[in-house]
Amino acid sequence: DGETAQEMMAHKGGLTFNDFNVMPGFINFSVHDVSLETNITRNIKIKAPLVSSPMDTVTESGMAIVMALYGGIGIIHGNFPKPEDQAAEVLKVKRFKQGFVMQPHCLKPSSTAYDMIQIKKMFGYTGAPVTEDGRVGSKLIGMVTSRDFDFITMDVAGQKSTPIGDEVTPNTPITEIMVPVGKLIVGKISDPPEACQKLLKEHRLGKLPIVNDDNELIALLCRSDLLKARDYPNASYDSSGQLLCGAAVNTREESRHTVDLLVEAGVDLIVIDSSNGSSTYQIDMLQWIKKQHPNIEVVAGNVVTRQQAKVLIDAGADGLRVGMGSGSICITQDIMAVGRAQGTAVYDVSRYGRSRGVPIVADGGIRDVGYITKALALGASVVMMGGLLAATTEAPGEYFWGPGGVRVKKYRGMGSLDAMEAHASSQDRYFTAESDQIKVAQGVSATMKDRGSCHKFIPYLVRGVQHGFQDIGVRSVTELHDKVAGGDIRFERRSTNAQLEGGVHSLHS
Ligand code: XMP
Repeated sequence: DGETAQEMMAHKGGLTFNDFNVMPGFINFSVHDVSLETNITRNIKIKAPLVSSPMDTVTESGMAIVMALYGGIGIIHGNFPKPEDQAAEVLKVKRFKQGFVMQPHCLKPSSTAYDMIQIKKMFGYTGAPVTEDGRVGSKLIGMVTSRDFDFITMDVAGQKSTPIGDEVTPNTPITEIMVPVGKLIVGKISDPPEACQKLLKEHRLGKLPIVNDDNELIALLCRSDLLKARDYPNASYDSSGQLLCGAAVNTREESRHTVDLLVEAGVDLIVIDSSNGSSTYQIDMLQWIKKQHPNIEVVAGNVVTRQQAKVLIDAGADGLRVGMGSGSICITQDIMAVGRAQGTAVYDVSRYGRSRGVPIVADGGIRDVGYITKALALGASVVMMGGLLAATTEAPGEYFWGPGGVRVKKYRGMGSLDAMEAHASSQDRYFTAESDQIKVAQGVSATMKDRGSCHKFIPYLVRGVQHGFQDIGVRSVTELHDKVAGGDIRFERRSTNAQLEGGVHSLHS
């Protein structure tokens, strides 16, 4: 029954994921037998086919860490004020160790107990290191913990104090209540993480400051985080055991310096971020990266046709990002008259990529778990998601209460006026000069409902895709690709009514 992918796509109409179903297969294995191991580039293998998009409301270090912990990878966006800021995010991912906070809130010698109380009120932290200039990377002076200040009570406005039983008031200098460095137990960043954990346990500490050989604060090891620590058997690691991390750059000449900084920070993968990747700018950037940093894998794009794909593979791309106008916040197809239905784009480019040994990243339009499975069935090796991951705890930005009392976070297209006005990098993605007075938006700015933490959501997506594979009757991404190419897995297009039938319907409320 049904038809092969080749037959389905022969109609030349332009199909989206919603236009078809995959025909069910025979199940003779458990969902736990399904491996989702795949390649994002020629040389980078990961255990879950999931990538977070380089958008400034989706991927900074928090998202990239959680993506990598569950077997995917995050691509740090390039809309930071300075390239150094983007490199610092990569470094946070590369340095991630369970229980270690790499950017703890610090106090300075001129701080008072009031400042510590504010940190506790705003962020919930019960202690803070005191450093020479109040930043990570400067000399450690001491450490304040809740025991040093929790007898101070304050009124609602946080002004008046009622010290109970001792002389500490909100105005007390932090240097008077902290434990100074001579009396403090500290860990060394050069020591193995287990040694620092042992110190924390043996001395029954809540927090252990971690310093380098010059006694500069590098991190804080937290007991509460350590207690939450668990095994991540599918985590994406590099050869030295650090989490994998990608970062996006635009095609401007000055971004070559950004690439150097990202490589120095340990980035594994560069994504050249452009709405239309088949350009001389992209080819120049791609060839420069491959020459200058031959060990760095590069995903080029975006493309939607075989002709575009050929140009970038010939120029040295290790992976291709596919999608134009399919994203949830995109208006490219309406405004530019250009783009392609994502199902057809993924299928055509994947067939070509397969013939050249280059994996495909299906980027945009992934609305739910089944869309991931469908993108893989059409030949993609991984999917890239923006909207599906926006408004999770790990996405950048603060939650706020939207209309109807719904808790939301901002999610915006990188081609929205909002994002383009904020950063030149976004303008470059859409071939817009900073000096141009007339800016044509290719995306919108919106909000998304709170989706909870990726620590729950990503494992759910992984398990959902495993179930999809089981239903199709395949145990791996390679088997899926081979069987689709060989015509053993069949598809069926569905009418508008079939799409309605396939969704929730006929319910009273
Ligand atoms: P989803 O559907 O996952 O799509 O939200 C995310 C992808 O959309 C692309 N993107 C844009 N495309 N205008 C566009 O035409 C935009 O403003 C825009 N911002 C992001 C991008 O490829 C992303 O990964």
